Amino acid sequence: MHRAYHTLRWEGDALGTLYLIDQTLLPEQFTEINAATVEDVWHAIRQLSVRGAPAIGVAAAWGAVLGTQQCRDSSRAEFDSRQREVSDYLAGSRPTAVNLSWALQRLQRIAESDADATAAQMHQRLFEEAALIQLEDEQMCDRIGRHGAELLESGTGVLTHCNAGSLATAGNGTALSVIFSAKAAGKQLHVYADETRPLLQGARLTAWELQQRDVEVTVICDNMAAQVMKEGRIQAVVTGADRIAANGDVANKIGTYGVALLARAHGIPFYVAAPSSTFDLVLATGNEIPIEQRADTEVTHGFGRQTVPAGVDVYNPAFDVTPAPLIDAIITERGVVHRPETQSVCRHLG
Ligand code: MRU
Repeated sequence: MHRAYHTLRWEGDALGTLYLIDQTLLPEQFTEINAATVEDVWHAIRQLSVRGAPAIGVAAAWGAVLGTQQCRDSSRAEFDSRQREVSDYLAGSRPTAVNLSWALQRLQRIAESDADATAAQMHQRLFEEAALIQLEDEQMCDRIGRHGAELLESGTGVLTHCNAGSLATAGNGTALSVIFSAKAAGKQLHVYADETRPLLQGARLTAWELQQRDVEVTVICDNMAAQVMKEGRIQAVVTGADRIAANGDVANKIGTYGVALLARAHGIPFYVAAPSSTFDLVLATGNEIPIEQRADTEVTHGFGRQTVPAGVDVYNPAFDVTPAPLIDAIITERGVVHRPETQSVCRHLG
């Protein structure tokens, strides 16, 4: 079964508007938000209405188009200045997923490419580039899925962490695309979805979209993964990534590092599925990846009630870094990098 929804949907021409599924409300409610201004997009990214590294990048590109709509009749100098302002503003919405700045830099290069174009012509080009980023994202998901499916045998129990599915991209996802492709190829899989504290992207989003697509899924609390592996239920782990350093270290949702350690201890292969836009080759190792710190209330007042005594200190990093030696392979739209390290990563990305 194919997905019957679009995580991000642009309606209209360059003067159109963006619709996003409000992922904070799933699985109870399926509601779209109309993001009509760059501020709407910034807030949607910040509050995780749209989340997941590739989807954040696509949303930011559309945000830049929205933020420059009113300057189509301005001078080029005014348009360019607004474009840079909007880009800096969007780049500050979340720090860890590099796809955000990657998409904004693509638009920036377009904006700097033709000094003779009018503001309206340049805005049209930014619109076309944003549409291309979204289209490429969809295609990239399918390629990742095909490459990754070859690594999974029929009968495999697959553990995944957080949500790296269609809700995290413009297409079929990264880690979950591997599962959808393997299933489409006739393989029998059973997915174990870590619930993924504190915001439960695994329980709320991964389980929802696998159920929508008739993939067998069992939700487990994060602290159950070791036991489930020991019971022999897991033969592979597949996760997404928010930023990958040149040496193959991977930043992903908090808890991923622990899952990688558990997988190694149980002799289970640990795979990361991510597009090449998630690599940040400027960073030599994962130690340099900025880790987003989020509000204490995500931990103290999770979903409707207080679960930590008032006044108690809380630490809430949203991501962690899994060292490359714990990763058996990184799956991209270009193929598979086995045992990633600096040379194999750079060779893979050309
Ligand atoms: O805080 P989130 O929900 O944006 O975190 C998302 C993740 O960590 C995903 O695993 C990652 O972005 C990969 S999405 C294909």
